[in-house]
Amino acid sequence: MDIILKNVSRSYQGYDGSKVEVIKDLSIEMKKGSVLRLKGPSGSGKTTLMNMISGLILPDSGSVTVNGVEISGLHESARDSFRAGNIGYIFQTFNLLSPFSVIENVYAPLAFAGKLPENYRQKALDILNEVGLTGLENRRPYHLSVGQRQRVSVARVLFLKPAVILADEPTASLDAVSAKTVYDSISKCRDNGSTIVLASHDTTFDGLTADAVLDLETGRVS
Ligand SMILES: Nc1ncnc2c1ncn2[C@@H]1O[C@H](COP(=O)(O)OP(=O)(O)OP(=O)(O)O)[C@@H](O)[C@H]1O
Ligand SMILES: [Mg+2]
Repeated sequence: MDIILKNVSRSYQGYDGSKVEVIKDLSIEMKKGSVLRLKGPSGSGKTTLMNMISGLILPDSGSVTVNGVEISGLHESARDSFRAGNIGYIFQTFNLLSPFSVIENVYAPLAFAGKLPENYRQKALDILNEVGLTGLENRRPYHLSVGQRQRVSVARVLFLKPAVILADEPTASLDAVSAKTVYDSISKCRDNGSTIVLASHDTTFDGLTADAVLDLETGRVS
């Protein structure tokens, strides 16, 4: 199993000090290369769940195991390096590094991990071409449109070729044509064995057959 959540719960402290439980006693198992689609209205916990799978936040109780490693039991620095090597996260809010150029953003995670491949610049340029960003490689994120920034965040994950891809509304800012290229790239990753967790309202992704659909509103898996 590539991703195992066991009795995971997570709450946030409300502004008035009250506890709001967003994820309640959730258990799910995903095989390598499978696709889990997350459903549920705004505020139902889709991003919270992805943040736990990536180890950016911890569950209050229960365990999260990715690629055989119980990520929820690791210290922060170990979680960070595990994420860098195994998990590609297309953030809903992009999380690009503003002092760096587009191409540097694409290869930054592997550069930080000290694992840049041979010809990494050319590989990064090829991926930028795949998502339609040729010619923009030396710009800063600040000088890009929102849709272009979203595609940089997708390119960064494609460059990683990670075991697990977390895609949080990866086409929310894109037109239909750009959305289709992102869809094609993510499908290709699945064909190459990546396990995918996808939250998207975009019907472009309906072609990516989900092995399971998790409704965060009810906590049910179908
Ligand atoms: N850091 C935080 N502190 C307090 N509450 C939070 C925090 N992050 C999220 N929440 C709350 O947790 C709930 C779930 O948020 P989350 O971002 O996971 O929802 P979502 O399903 O991704 O929504 P959307 O579709 O709008 O992206 C929301 O009610 C939100 O207000
Ligand atoms: Mg969200």
